[in-house]
Amino acid sequence: MERPVVAAERAVQAAYDAVADTYADFYTATEGEQPEDLAMIDRFCAAVRGPRRVLDAGCGAGRLLPYLAARGCNPAGVDLSAGMIRRARSDHPGFPTAVASLTALPFPDATFDGVFAWYSLIHTPDASLPPIVAELRRVLTPGGVLLVAFQAGEGVRDIGAAFGPYGHDVTLLRHHRSAASMERMLAAEGFVPLDRLERPPVAGEREDQVVLIVEVPAPADLAAPERRIAAAATRGAVGQDGTHG
Ligand SMILES: C[S@@+](CC[C@H](N)C(=O)[O-])C[C@H]1O[C@@H](n2cnc3c(N)ncnc32)[C@H](O)[C@@H]1O
Repeated sequence: MERPVVAAERAVQAAYDAVADTYADFYTATEGEQPEDLAMIDRFCAAVRGPRRVLDAGCGAGRLLPYLAARGCNPAGVDLSAGMIRRARSDHPGFPTAVASLTALPFPDATFDGVFAWYSLIHTPDASLPPIVAELRRVLTPGGVLLVAFQAGEGVRDIGAAFGPYGHDVTLLRHHRSAASMERMLAAEGFVPLDRLERPPVAGEREDQVVLIVEVPAPADLAAPERRIAAAATRGAVGQDGTHG
């Protein structure tokens, strides 16, 4: 019998293959993002060091690859769905992309200076997340930066009905979790926090939205922690407007 983790991924892959063109036609760039969301992406890009090789992990149809590149990153994308990657290749041909699972990335250790997981861990149950977090860490350099964005909350919701009006009959499970539980999972894999956004839902969203930026500590950072102190100061300043948890 197929392992549950494989069966769950296969269901996600089938759903995104079915809706790929609808999704890619609807979201072509950053239409779905709020200014605070984009500010977090900008902070992620600013925090990535070295040659700034960034893996867009679960890139979908690649709509954020140009945004990352415009901020000085050198992005490549992977996604489980061949349909989404087909659209990434036709809509954004300048960027390398591959069909791959976040559970087994086709890259050697320490290939990337940043990993960008923008709403791509949302279809993974809690029990299956730690191996993915470990895999994201494996491909990061020491000092590498990871961004994770997701809907906060509890439980599982089938969001497939959202595609009904576009002629799709799909099941697509979304797993909700708290910012604190994701932070614990990241800390268990050795990541240390750099920045955090938790904002209330707007414009048709139902849940709070969370963006976490963490890093793999480099030996130099452990000796000179100013970088994290600077990030904490920024966090405090943004928190005053009430958008951060
Ligand atoms: C909500 S979409 C977001 C896509 C893209 N990040 C964006 O913002 O447009 C989630 C994407 O994550 C991908 N995904 C989900 N689980 C994955 C996994 N285990 N491995 C690789 N990709 C995955 C899906 O195929 C889908 O394209």
